[in-house]
Amino acid sequence: MSDGTTGAAPAALTQMLARASVTPRLLAEPGPSVSELEMAISAALTAPDHGMLRPWRFVTIEGEARARLGALMVASLLRRMPDAPTEALAKEEHKPQRAPLVIIAGAAIRHGHKIPVWEQEASAAAGIMNLMHALEAQGYGTFWSSAPSLLDPEMKQALGFPETDRLLGFIHVGTLAGPKPEPHRPAPAAYWRAWSGI
Ligand SMILES: Cc1cc2nc3c(=O)[nH]c(=O)nc-3n(C[C@H](O)[C@H](O)[C@H](O)COP(=O)(O)O)c2cc1C
Repeated sequence: MSDGTTGAAPAALTQMLARASVTPRLLAEPGPSVSELEMAISAALTAPDHGMLRPWRFVTIEGEARARLGALMVASLLRRMPDAPTEALAKEEHKPQRAPLVIIAGAAIRHGHKIPVWEQEASAAAGIMNLMHALEAQGYGTFWSSAPSLLDPEMKQALGFPETDRLLGFIHVGTLAGPKPEPHRPAPAAYWRAWSGI
């Protein structure tokens, strides 16, 4: 608990309470530097990790590589929907272009391990949240999205993930091109109750 003298804990908490996703179309250049990214990944690696399995995996995609990701996503869509309309294909192709940096966040899963898969995925997801907070703390906007292509084994392989990994999302990162959103957050009371066992 803070005694109000150092200011460190309140500052971190203030930042955490102000966290808000920024829609990818409002994420402009520049993206984070390598050292800023390293800080964010380091934050991800502090997530709780039952069994020290280190399930966190991040693949960064910037610049021209985003076009190649778009092509993979189009190919994936065509596998799911061979007669997908041209507009849908164009939309899919454009998705990675919306932010200067797209991070594919995955979980390296040890199947058959005594630590259940859900705990490994939960640890990886906790890492993603830390990563997003760390990027926000350094002045960037972030957005976590998912898509059916993340379940596509061919897409997974093309991105260099083993078949057994779970892809948990695309994390879009960039500099805010407008004011930071201030979403309405629910009051905590409805999400919290004490249990006394009586
Ligand atoms: C695993 C996961 C996947 C998500 N996928 C999408 C998505 O595909 N599209 C979307 O609009 N929002 C998606 N969201 C929600 C947004 O990231 C974001 O949380 C939401 O827009 C609410 O904004 P907020 O984070 O500021 O409350 C996803 C969130 C999570 C945790």
